[in-house]
Amino acid sequence: MKKSTHSALNSFVISFEGTEGSGKSTLIREVGALLNQLGQPSIQTREPGGSILAEKIRNLILESSMNPWTELFLYEAARAEHLNQTILPALERGEIVLCDRFTDSTLAYQGHARGLPWNQIKILNKIATAGIRPRLTVFLDIDPEVGLRRAKDPNRFEAEGVHFQQKVRKGFLKARAERPNSWLTLRSDKLTAPILAKKVVNHLITKRWIKKRE
Ligand code: TYD
Repeated sequence: MKKSTHSALNSFVISFEGTEGSGKSTLIREVGALLNQLGQPSIQTREPGGSILAEKIRNLILESSMNPWTELFLYEAARAEHLNQTILPALERGEIVLCDRFTDSTLAYQGHARGLPWNQIKILNKIATAGIRPRLTVFLDIDPEVGLRRAKDPNRFEAEGVHFQQKVRKGFLKARAERPNSWLTLRSDKLTAPILAKKVVNHLITKRWIKKRE
């Protein structure tokens, strides 16, 4: 795996996590627009996907059900590709990477919801990301039942129903409990995307990770 030299630069990954229908993609677009207004370069990407080969792997994963281990390795394979093709180059250009789902989705879905061993997934996540962790994980929390009602065009994970989504949500809460200081939890059913985006950007300014425009 390519070794990253990005650590000296002020660039970092923000992951956006949540159960289905939590509104991540709209929020990411809004955050990207606000960063742009502040003159802060960023890219918007997603997992699984975010590079040509990783998008092909995404289609494989989403089109049919498979053994949970196969599923896990495909997510990690897509991630390794995404990291090298898209994330590391953006970090090296000094950009903030806004990523729709990342390693915590694997813990929540394949770990807590599918029941694969949590600590082994952490090891695989670390290998696939060359140890790069999100500086911030924005968790869009929503009642899974409300989220499922909002989600259009259900994928096979959504089709597993509300009980599965509740397990996924518990998985996110478990991952958050392990690194509480790098998580920002927002209730996505109460506020609109532009207001949520302001909260994310204000958090970055308060932490001094980005500068407020003079
Ligand atoms: P997608 O249609 O992008 O769902 P969403 O819009 O809710 O993000 O499909 C991605 C699916 O893949 C989603 O159901 C969550 C699942 N997933 C995992 O199970 N493990 C992972 O590591 C990742 C990144 C996603």
